Formats: sequence, structure tokens, C-alpha cells
Amino acid sequence: MDELSRRKMLLAGGTLGALGVLGAASPARAGSAWSWAASGSVAGSGTGSDPHWVWDEEADQLLATVIERGDVPKVNKLLRTWTRNDQPLPGELPTDLREFMDTARHLPTWADRDKLDRAARFNETRGFYLNVLNGIGGGMLSTAIPREARAVYYSKGGADMEDRVAKTSKLGFAVGALNAYQPGGSIVVEAVKTRLVHAAVRHLLPKSPGWSGTSGGQKIPISLADMLVTWHTLPTFAMRRMRDWDVPISSADSAAYLHIWQVTAHLLGIRDEYVPATWDAADAQSEQLLDPVLGPTPEGVELTDILLRQLAEQTSPGGLDRPLVNALARYLVGNQVADWDGIPRAPFWDATIKTVWPKLVAFREGLIKLPLVPQIAWTIDEAARQYILFYLSKGREVHIEIPDTNRPG
Ligand code: HEM
Repeated sequence: MDELSRRKMLLAGGTLGALGVLGAASPARAGSAWSWAASGSVAGSGTGSDPHWVWDEEADQLLATVIERGDVPKVNKLLRTWTRNDQPLPGELPTDLREFMDTARHLPTWADRDKLDRAARFNETRGFYLNVLNGIGGGMLSTAIPREARAVYYSKGGADMEDRVAKTSKLGFAVGALNAYQPGGSIVVEAVKTRLVHAAVRHLLPKSPGWSGTSGGQKIPISLADMLVTWHTLPTFAMRRMRDWDVPISSADSAAYLHIWQVTAHLLGIRDEYVPATWDAADAQSEQLLDPVLGPTPEGVELTDILLRQLAEQTSPGGLDRPLVNALARYLVGNQVADWDGIPRAPFWDATIKTVWPKLVAFREGLIKLPLVPQIAWTIDEAARQYILFYLSKGREVHIEIPDTNRPG
């Protein structure tokens, strides 16, 4: 950590605050007794195993072998050509990997096509909120999750955040597409690729001195509890915020939106016994898993700074500035998380966004007429649109690829 990061760390919570919170966010706390009932899962019952101690055994062993054999460059090259849900896997893939992926790509028996199609329409109509919430909001939450911030920082992609965000957006846009789970869509492809990436990271990161020195005793990263934590930063967080904003959502849409993420969790390698069956079960699990682990880390503060700087550059061809971006991020995740992320306050924009965002939402939902939306709201709207467009186009150029090294240096 350089001096700048150290200073940002202190800024993020005040020395005492930060120390207190770091204690609260330690992996020991994160690993406290698992009491979420599997009766609330899509499986309806389970082994009772604590997901802090469960990873993705079959994928993890396989990817360790693929990496050790030196197959990663060849596999990545072949996987670039695998882009559609209905596409056969490249025949030249190593047999063990191809067989695993051919099984891993199957939707669970409980997947409901009608619900998936309904969710796709919901994702499309609510794309503006969802992209902002999952992209900017989810990003800002993930940098306040110590284990994730450190895993990202010390892994290969941590050295090039722009590329990483584009790759992550690739999954986000695939799940949000109108044809997400249709034959021509790509979410099955991106989720299975992501499952492989995580399995590779589990093999690689334990060899990183930077990660091992900060993992708080965790020996293998990305447990299924960690996966669930991140999962809640996506659908659970987005649904909560849309409700906070009074976005009208029918119960059928809400159930469908949960469903598309349940199926995606399955494809990402999360066991069905941990995937919440209802929003109530999801909220309860999020309270148990996500809320207690949020907190500041130097890595998270540094990553946040990089992400928001990039966001400001990309959304400001007309000269919009960083304070607007900071304020939007702060508004989405709230003051506590924003402070942990070290996001500077921006008095003018903080106050403005708080006032005009609800009006923007009400206008989008047809609840108020244009004259009631202050002109400045369109500056914020435009910044959000630029962000979405930028990553949408970036996402087209990149491929989710299996890493075979950690962050250099
Ligand atoms: C890579 C999504 C959970 C750490 C990726 C990628 C995606 C993704 C799309 C591929 C993009 C890339 O290669 O950069 C998700 C989703 C999750 C989740 C949807 C949960 C629902 C986690 C968790 C951690 C984590 C819990 C760590 C605690 C990483 C790392 C990489 C990665 C280190 C690899 C970056 C590299 O190549 O160096 N994730 N992730 N992810 N993810 Fe996750």
C-alpha cells in the first residue's frame, strides 16, 4: 500500500472508526455461525454445511489441472468463439473441461422458461435503473466487501480495472438482455465462463503474497458464502433500492426478476441449498451475510478511486466532473458505504441528486409530467446513460477469460 492509499484509508472512516470497522469486517466475523435455513432455498432442504467452508469442488479441481497443464491460453482462445447459449462447445477443448462445461451449462430442473422471459422483459424496461444499480451501485458495494476488494486487487485483473469492469459488465448485460436465456442469448455462456474464472482464482490467489498477507486467515478465496455476499449486492440490493424509489413493480415481475438471478446463481456454481427461494429469504440471508462484512480496506478505497475516476472520464465528454460521479455513487450506496469506500463528499451534487433523482424516477414511471423535473436532472440522467453506453460498447470488445497468473508485482 502506498502513502496515498494509507491516507485515503484514514479518510475513509477516521482512524478509530476505520479500526473499529475493520474489526467488525474481519473474516472471523464473516464466518460466524451459519443459521440461514435451507428450507428457504430453491432446493427446499440442504446439508446444513456452512457456505463459508464450501467452494466449488469439481470446478476448482478441474481448473487447477487445466492451469497446471498449461492449457489456459489455448482454452481461452477456443472459448472466445463460444458466445451463444445454444452453441456447441468447441470440439478442440480438453475433454475433461468440455465434459464439465457441457453439464455446467444445463439450466436447473426448477428453471421456469416463462419466468425467465418475463424477467428479461422486466430487465429491459427497467434497464436504466438496473444498469446503474448493478454497475455503479454493485461496484461500489463490492469495493466495500473486504474479501472481494482484496481478491480483485491481487488477482490478474486488478492491475487493469477498466478491462475488468468491461468484462464484469459483459455478464451484467448478458443477464439483462431481452434474449438472456433464449438460444441466441449469452448469459449461460458468460456465467459458465465466470464459474471457470472463479475456480482458477481459487487456485491462483493462495500463491499471491499480497492476498495471503491480507486474507485474514482465509486459505482459499471465493467461498460460496462470499459468492452469496456478492450476489446480494446485485438483485437483492437493486430490488431494495427500486422499492425505496417507489418504482412500481408487480409481484409477478418481482418474482421473475428473483428467478433470473436464482438460475444465474446456479450457473455460477452456487449450490441450490443456498439460493434464496423468496425475497424474504433473500433479505434474511443478505442481513446475515452481506451487512456484517461491509467495511473499509485500503485496497477497496484504491479500487473505488480508480473506478470513479474512470467513470468520470467516460461520462464527461461534455466536461461533467468527478463530484457528480462521486455524488451519484454516494446516493446509490448510502453514506455509510460511501464513507468506507473513501468517496469524497460533494455538497452541491450530494444535495442535488437527493432532490432530483426521485423526480427523475417519477417522470420515467409516468407519475409526473416533464415541467416538474428540474433541468439539472437531465445532466444526471445523461451521465448515467453515458456510463451504460460506454460499458455496453466496451463489453462487445472483451471476453471473459481464465487467468493463469495473479496481479504482477
Ligand atoms: C471475475 C462476476 C463473486 C472475485 C469475475 C468475472 C465476472 C464475475 C463476470 C469475469 C470478469 C473478469 O475476468 O474480470 C461475479 C459474480 C459474483 C462474483 C456475478 C457473485 C454473484 C465474486 C467474489 C469474489 C470474486 C465473491 C471474491 C471474493 C473475482 C476475481 C475475478 C473475478 C478475483 C478474476 C479477475 C481476474 O481475472 O483477475 N467475477 N463474481 N468474484 N471475480 Fe467474480
